[in-house]
Amino acid sequence: MARSQTPTSAIPEREQWTGQLGFIMAAVGSAVGLGNIWRFPGVAYESGGGAFLIPYLVALLTAGIPILFLDYAIGHRFRGSAPLALRRLGGRLGEGIGWFQVVIAALIAIYYTGVLAWAASYFVFSFGEQWGDDTAAFFTGDYLQVSDGAADPITFDFVPGVLIPLVLMWVVTLVILGAGVVKGVQRANVIIIPLLVVAFIALVIRALFLPGALDGLDAFFTPDFAALADPGVWIAAYSQIFFSLSIAFGIMITYASYRRRRSNMTGAGLVVAFGNSSFEILAGIGVFSTIGFLAHQQGIGVSEVEGLSGPILAFVTFPAIVSEMPGGGFSGALFFGALTLAGLTSLISILEVVIAAIRDKFGLTRGQAVGGVGVLALISVVLLGTTSGLIALDTIDQWTNNIGIVASAIVMTIVVIWVKRRGGELSRHLSAVSTFKVGGLWLFFTGVIGPIVLIWMLAAKVIDLVTGGYEGYATWYLGVAGWGSIVLAVVAAIVLPIVSWRHDPRSFEAWPTNKQLSLKGDAR
Ligand code: ALA
Repeated sequence: MARSQTPTSAIPEREQWTGQLGFIMAAVGSAVGLGNIWRFPGVAYESGGGAFLIPYLVALLTAGIPILFLDYAIGHRFRGSAPLALRRLGGRLGEGIGWFQVVIAALIAIYYTGVLAWAASYFVFSFGEQWGDDTAAFFTGDYLQVSDGAADPITFDFVPGVLIPLVLMWVVTLVILGAGVVKGVQRANVIIIPLLVVAFIALVIRALFLPGALDGLDAFFTPDFAALADPGVWIAAYSQIFFSLSIAFGIMITYASYRRRRSNMTGAGLVVAFGNSSFEILAGIGVFSTIGFLAHQQGIGVSEVEGLSGPILAFVTFPAIVSEMPGGGFSGALFFGALTLAGLTSLISILEVVIAAIRDKFGLTRGQAVGGVGVLALISVVLLGTTSGLIALDTIDQWTNNIGIVASAIVMTIVVIWVKRRGGELSRHLSAVSTFKVGGLWLFFTGVIGPIVLIWMLAAKVIDLVTGGYEGYATWYLGVAGWGSIVLAVVAAIVLPIVSWRHDPRSFEAWPTNKQLSLKGDAR
């Protein structure tokens, strides 16, 4: 049983969501993001179509939900940002894992804002279908003005059309974060999520009535079972689940730390996990119905349509479809509006990881911490607002997701369950506060199956990147922007735990103790 200490008066009260709904809205807002709308449909299509749903579901059940619960348990029991909660759980080693996650979150925020800025621009472009007839030339040429990545991976030629929305997205996000957990983060999510759901359902219904929609759905759902023999497909499924559920990079630890004592953690987790996957599959249905329409218009098969993955799907193929649709500008605005809103609520959660961590460690006010995060905004503007922005985004995304998040999940599960042996305590904690009880099976997935699958995935990815490079970019560039990102996170994990805390990290009231649980009150 963990220590139970009274907080010292010097430590400011931790902010709290107003209730279960506020938390669920924020957690869904974090989970549903670019990963659902922009990434999932393309990944699923490339990885076996309908057959991809099998590894996807396996990944959700064997690692996604178990590690989501682990994040919740750590954040709620030890009530802190990732480094603080993990420090309380596992000393300096734990704190190091927390800082690793904070750096990964910071790096993701740097490029995530870039995609948001593009989505916001395309929202505006939709009204006049400003991309013209050649959407590919418009995206990489007129809009991004991409430099030749192989020859020129770093440029300082700013592109005003990207720079302005980028700065705006940073300002909006930091203003919301500056307003606090309830008045900023929770309020933004409570307003945005219903809007997002309505916009997205309208978009999907519209898509389903387009001629050719059924062919698109057929292509999306027709299972290619041979794909299941390809390890790459399984790796894609696990990566998708981790990014999409916002797990193992500090977000859910931080959000869970703002929950009240008696909070149904696993119940909320199941709502968030299944809500997120439903949204993801809905996005696949919407996107592939419209692709079916494009194929129908061009008199070709769906499999002959090009550009069905990554940013090209959203920013080249989708605008081309919009141009073909009657009243397409409206659908375009709905799509890019939804993408912007979904991404904004996720970005808020990613940056809250950094804000909460530096507040806890250095005793900063929220305003000071938000100001500090302005440094990330500056880096983001310099990296993403130039003609080499797409290359930076692509590289940092590849390394932070496939190496950073996966490595963080492996180390966190092994240290928590095997090295510090806190699995039983966390499992009892979750069961004590929640309606859905967890026990041996949860520990087995979190501590055994999860790490085994993830280690295999990580090894395969590292070998692939070391031997094959990435997208033909220069080796020195991948060393700096790709491997350099991981090295930065490792350095933070080693150095920051040596720096002393503003307040004693051990001073907290670990809840719930059995005694507290027997008390009534603090309902949800
Ligand atoms: N979970 C967020 C997304 O899917 C990060 O985009």
